[in-house]
This record gives sequence, C-alpha cells and structure tokens, in this order.
Amino acid sequence: MQIAIDGPAGSGKSTIAKIVANRLGFIYCDTGAMYRTATVMALRLGLKLDDEAAIMAHLKPLAITFKPTPEGQQVFMDGEEVTLAIREPETTNNVSQVAALPAVRAEMVQRQRDIAATHDIVMDGRDIGTTVLPDAEVKIFMVASVKARAQRRHEENVAKGIMTSVATLEQEIATRDHKDATRAVSPLQKAPDAIEIDSTNMTIAQEVDEILQLVATKIQ
Ligand code: CDP
Ligand code: CDP
Repeated sequence: MQIAIDGPAGSGKSTIAKIVANRLGFIYCDTGAMYRTATVMALRLGLKLDDEAAIMAHLKPLAITFKPTPEGQQVFMDGEEVTLAIREPETTNNVSQVAALPAVRAEMVQRQRDIAATHDIVMDGRDIGTTVLPDAEVKIFMVASVKARAQRRHEENVAKGIMTSVATLEQEIATRDHKDATRAVSPLQKAPDAIEIDSTNMTIAQEVDEILQLVATKIQ
C-alpha cells in the first residue's frame, strides 16, 4: 500500500507521515531529506547550484540512506550522518534551486519509486501524488496558513536555541512556496484525486486520525 502526503513547507507532512507509518507498520520515506542531502553535497563541493551536469556527476554515485530511530530518522550521505546538516538554514535556503534541476528530479524520483516498489510506504514531499506514486491508494494534500507554518517553525527553532523572527520565517516560507510551486518540472501541486487537509487549526492527533480513517476505508 502507498500513502502519498504532499504540501508546502511546515504544513505538518513529516510529523504526520512518521506517526501514520508507525501506526500502520509501514516504512516512511522523507523525499525532502533526499533533496536536502543533494544540496549539502553541492554546497560542500562548492558546485554552482545551476550546474546540472556537475551536480549529477556527483549525485549519481552518492548513497543517501535512512535509519529509523525512536525520534524520527537519521540521514546518511555516503555513510556520513547528515541529519543536522540537512536542516541548516544554508541548506534550506538553497534546496529549492537544486530540486528544480530536471536531472536531479529524475534521479530522485527513480530512487523513490525503487524504495516504494518493495515496501508498504508513507512518502512525503511535493510531487508524490502527482509524479512519484501516481497510483497511491491514499493521497493527502496538506496545507496550513503561512502564519501558522511560520509560528510552528519558530517554536521548533526556539526549542533548538535558534532565534529567527516569525516575520523572517514567514518571508522564507513564502519564498520557498513560490519557488516550489512555479518550477517547470513537477511543481508543488495537488493531485486531482488527493484529499486536502487544512491543518491550521487541527491538532496532530486529529490529522493522524483523519488519515487513518481514510486508510481504513481503502483496506476494507
Ligand atoms: O520540511 P520542509 O517542508 O521545510 O521541506 P522538505 O520537505 O524537507 O523539502 C525541502 C525542499 O526539497 C522543498 O522546499 C522542495 O524544494 C524540495 N522537494 C521537492 O522538490 N520535491 C519533493 N518531493 C520533496 C522536497
Ligand atoms: O514536513 P513539513 O515541513 O510539512 O512539516 P513538519 O516539519 O512535519 O511540521 C512543522 C511543525 O508543525 C512541527 O513542529 C509539528 O509539530 C507542527 N505541527 C503542528 O503544530 N500542528 C499540526 N497539526 C501539524 C504539525
């Protein structure tokens, strides 16, 4: 079974996807982490972020792997843990540019389909329901207001000791939304058969329950 969860930054995809996967005993695939890892690689090597050929030459042989943990998952790049590096602001602010490169997307989509071919899976990202897993049994498009999403990121940051104002986060989120929704290849888009959930005023538990109910209707 395949469950696809798409939506803009901070809408709650990964939080919900992880819990749903856990409750169902499915694996969880965070496709954003894959694009983030490619971005860490390109930044470290000092590659130009629009140099598709150079990025692809290094990305093709790059191993991106996940290891589940009780808190979520660890991410590895050629065996080196990059769980924290992929969340650094420099990575976040550059990932949309790398993710817009058509060859990078083709490579990632192939890897994501390979993972889904052999497991029951919950996969989250921007193009899962439209491109990666168009036959997914359950497709969710998760949204929330920019204000709510910036506020959530702010609370996460405060917990980590990072002090970025809510206004700056609103700006960053709106900029990334725009880049992700207007790129030529696989832009952020709701699949026609996806169910939209607006999490602005919902708790995590309410969202999880709604998705589990949808899954139950597919299993019957
Ligand atoms: O967690 P957050 O929503 O901030 O972002 P993410 O899911 O980790 O994704 C980071 C970036 O990767 C997005 O802003 C997109 O540019 C890109 N991405 C994508 O293009 N396609 C996907 N399936 C997943 C992420
Ligand atoms: O993966 P994505 O960027 O879509 O969002 P996330 O990282 O899963 O969620 C961003 C933050 O929103 C997390 O701190 C969640 O705990 C929080 N959240 C929330 O406050 N209420 C919800 N209904 C869903 C998520």
